[in-house]
Amino acid sequence: MFKHNLALLVAALVPFAKAQNETAEAAVSFLFPDYCCTVLSLSPLRERLLFPGQSAFESRVHSYFDIKQQSLTPNCLVQPRDTKEVALTVKILTTASILKPCKFAIRSGGHTPYAGASNIEDGVTVDLQYLSAVQYDAKNNLVKVGPGARWNDVFTTLEPLGVITTGGRSSTVGVGGLTLGGGISYFSPEHGLICDNVLEFEVVLADGRIVTASKTQNPDLFTVLKGGNNNFGIVTNFKFGTFKYDGMWGGLVAYPESTIQDQFKALINFSNNIDKNLKAAAIVMPVYQSAVGSNLILNTYDYAEPVPRPAAYNEFFAIPGNVSDTTGLRNMSSLAVELKGATTHSVYFGTLTFANDLRVMTEAHNIFKDVLANLKAKATGDWGIYVLYQPLPPAYTRNSAAKGGNVLGFERFKDQVLCLYQPYISWQGAQQDALFQGAGADLINRIRAYAESIGADNPYLYLDYADKTQDPLKSYGPENVQKMKAAAKKYDPHGVFQNLVPGGFKISKVQ
Ligand SMILES: Cc1cc2nc3c(=O)[nH]c(=O)nc-3n(C[C@H](O)[C@H](O)[C@H](O)COP(=O)(O)OP(=O)(O)OC[C@H]3O[C@@H](n4cnc5c(N)ncnc54)[C@H](O)[C@@H]3O)c2cc1C
Ligand SMILES: *[C@@H]1O[C@H](CO)[C@@H](O)[C@H](O)[C@H]1NC(C)=O
Ligand SMILES: *[C@@H]1O[C@H](CO)[C@@H](O)[C@H](O)[C@H]1NC(C)=O
Ligand SMILES: *[C@@H]1O[C@H](CO)[C@@H](O)[C@H](O)[C@H]1NC(C)=O
Ligand SMILES: *[C@@H]1O[C@H](CO)[C@@H](O)[C@H](O)[C@H]1NC(C)=O
Repeated sequence: MFKHNLALLVAALVPFAKAQNETAEAAVSFLFPDYCCTVLSLSPLRERLLFPGQSAFESRVHSYFDIKQQSLTPNCLVQPRDTKEVALTVKILTTASILKPCKFAIRSGGHTPYAGASNIEDGVTVDLQYLSAVQYDAKNNLVKVGPGARWNDVFTTLEPLGVITTGGRSSTVGVGGLTLGGGISYFSPEHGLICDNVLEFEVVLADGRIVTASKTQNPDLFTVLKGGNNNFGIVTNFKFGTFKYDGMWGGLVAYPESTIQDQFKALINFSNNIDKNLKAAAIVMPVYQSAVGSNLILNTYDYAEPVPRPAAYNEFFAIPGNVSDTTGLRNMSSLAVELKGATTHSVYFGTLTFANDLRVMTEAHNIFKDVLANLKAKATGDWGIYVLYQPLPPAYTRNSAAKGGNVLGFERFKDQVLCLYQPYISWQGAQQDALFQGAGADLINRIRAYAESIGADNPYLYLDYADKTQDPLKSYGPENVQKMKAAAKKYDPHGVFQNLVPGGFKISKVQ
């Protein structure tokens, strides 16, 4: 049916194009301003389409985490219901591209904070919202999860069964994007990065084939999907390993800004001792919110057993004067809801890695105070900055190779304990984009320069936190870049995911 319709369309168009002495592409654009959506509407996917103006379309677009992503208007959304429909979507869009390129975006949770990562202007957004089933397989100690699921769906399904998997720390974030960039979980000290807990990916390739990538099937594809994002195909299902779960202890504790040196000292020792405390996770976050008007240090403490006030945090507990404290015996799902993402602001994320070194943290905080003072002088409306300092210890990737490997390149760092740095800045009003994005870039560039000046720098850039202007794929090192280039060539020889999918970080652009 679809082939017949497309053939009719092409038959009608080609003479028209010739008569106008035009390229077929120009003729197609003239006749059908949203040609690619027209082609989809001639296919069995017609019932899966949403168009601008329809309320379901508008509410989906407004569900992106970042306002800049919400501001893009695709010509249509296609919402496949299963893997076969994803494969058909890819086949139709690539076939139709013979006449005019059908550019598309791939969206899971929509939490990337820069425009165009998972939405598109004048193109098609492939929205995986309905591939969101979470199915526990007790016999094989695994859970099958669709990419469009939010982490909340995973935790609330597994918790009552007394099992869990490594998952994101915020309830609203998508499984698809987070996992393909690496994925840091409260369970990572003991169980590793989230991508390394994938036992099997189901993937739709550029030619519409549905394949499995695992340690034994397409193992090269398996490895590059762990960090390589959307360069190789659309992942339509994840099988994650599961483990026993009895609850957690944790929450958020806020302190006055004057405690920052003690916070850094505690974090450094905490990170250096993570191998002795594999259940313990912590993040230190200097925070400023215009609505509150005071500088605070907000810490997350999260312990993977229901143990009140675990000794792993003793150095933090010795810091007096906290102004609020939500810690207690909790569930992963409730901890994740406490960090859920809003959809009301434009957001900047950026990333940097450096040594677990008090000098860098101290200087980073001085630079932060300087950048903050500039923002306080110029910014308007509701805005805020969170600066995350978190451990990046060898424990996160120690078992990666045994699990089939990833492309993040941590082997290069041997037993070094690192610190992962991330400014998370939010504001309102497009006229302030340059101010806030400039502030984020300023933080990253100045801190990097300082770290380099004392030999405490590190090349790794975490893709899931990277700004559009950064090059996380290159930061994995030349060997991994080669692996990704080879896999892209092998599994997508015509470069569909390089040329027709402009969003995300593209391996073909890495020098
Ligand atoms: C509030 C908040 C909390 C966060 N917490 C954490 C955390 O605890 N740990 C952590 O590691 N990171 C965290 N992050 C970062 C997060 O990992 C990234 O923002 C990630 O990109 C979000 O994934 P998504 O599916 O929601 O995003 P999307 O924007 O939908 O996707 C991200 C990228 O992946 C591609 N992609 C998505 N799905 C697929 C698929 N199925 N196949 C192929 N390509 C695909 C998209 O095209 C896009 O380029 C957090 C982010 C936010 C905003
Ligand atoms: C069609 O375009 C070609 C190349 O631009 C030009 O040489 C030719 O004269 C055109 N023919 C007509 C009929 O306009
Ligand atoms: C955690 O979730 C389980 C399962 O839903 C529930 O039985 C338990 O009471 C919850 N525990 C806490 C501390 O909220
Ligand atoms: C550093 O951490 C270790 C292990 O958690 C602990 O035994 C030690 O007392 C800590 N050092 C300081 C200075 O608190
Ligand atoms: C926060 O302060 C309160 C009140 O002084 C104290 O009881 C609590 O233990 C502190 N919390 C932490 C995590 O140190």
